[in-house]
Amino acid sequence: MRLVFLGPPGAGKGTQARELAHAGGVAHVATGDILREALAAGTSLGLEAKRYMDRGALVPDDVIIDLMRERLAAPDAAQGFIVDGFPRTIAQAEALAGLLKDAGQALDRVIYFEVSERELLRRLTGRRICRRCQTVYHLVSAPPRTPGVCDRCGAELYQRDDDGEATVRNRLEVFARQTAPLLAYYHQRGLLATVSGEGSVEAVRAAIRAAVGAER
Ligand code: AP5
Repeated sequence: MRLVFLGPPGAGKGTQARELAHAGGVAHVATGDILREALAAGTSLGLEAKRYMDRGALVPDDVIIDLMRERLAAPDAAQGFIVDGFPRTIAQAEALAGLLKDAGQALDRVIYFEVSERELLRRLTGRRICRRCQTVYHLVSAPPRTPGVCDRCGAELYQRDDDGEATVRNRLEVFARQTAPLLAYYHQRGLLATVSGEGSVEAVRAAIRAAVGAER
């Protein structure tokens, strides 16, 4: 299974990719998580990425492509992966195709999560994340049992710096301008499957499973 999860910020890519990769025994590769980990570790990659992430802009293609070349060559990705948050530009998509071709591999499917802008804003401004285990909550639709505390590990929950409303609006514009052209790109290659990302987490998961199992 080699899948790309494509969709605007807040569409539920991470929520679904984490579960499905775990269930399928494949790697979950999320570029945003890798960049945030690099920032937390204080690496030069993390510090460079922060300059873009804080304003909702994309990190330059060459930085992301180098990072993904290394990540997809790791042993845990050899049997399959779900990539979430990459590619985000045509240049990144071309680079991914090249990397896979060199490895004698190909994508099975690109899943596009369709969600209205109003719902994306609601989700992102209400999202809270565990500082330790990264479990994702929502203040209204998936609240923790104790406010501000992770159900799983008891650590503090925080709001991402780029989840304030102004930055979210910018991220949505960046998606429309730079990432949405990938829909036509993957449609032309027979790889695109669109699912509604607006149902319950379980309903969206079932739709993805159906899309992955369906004939291309
Ligand atoms: P990244 O971390 O990838 O952010 P994103 O793509 O904007 O996506 P999000 O993580 O915000 O949302 P998601 O779709 O995963 O939603 P989630 O499951 O959490 O990227 C951040 C930044 O890094 C970028 O802006 C850029 O600067 C940089 N970057 C990353 N990749 C890059 C690349 N390839 N090139 C260049 N730059 C790059 O869900 C959101 C909320 O909704 C949660 O609260 C969740 O509980 C809730 N929720 C989920 N599903 C449902 C549901 N079905 N119903 C109700 N609520 C739901």
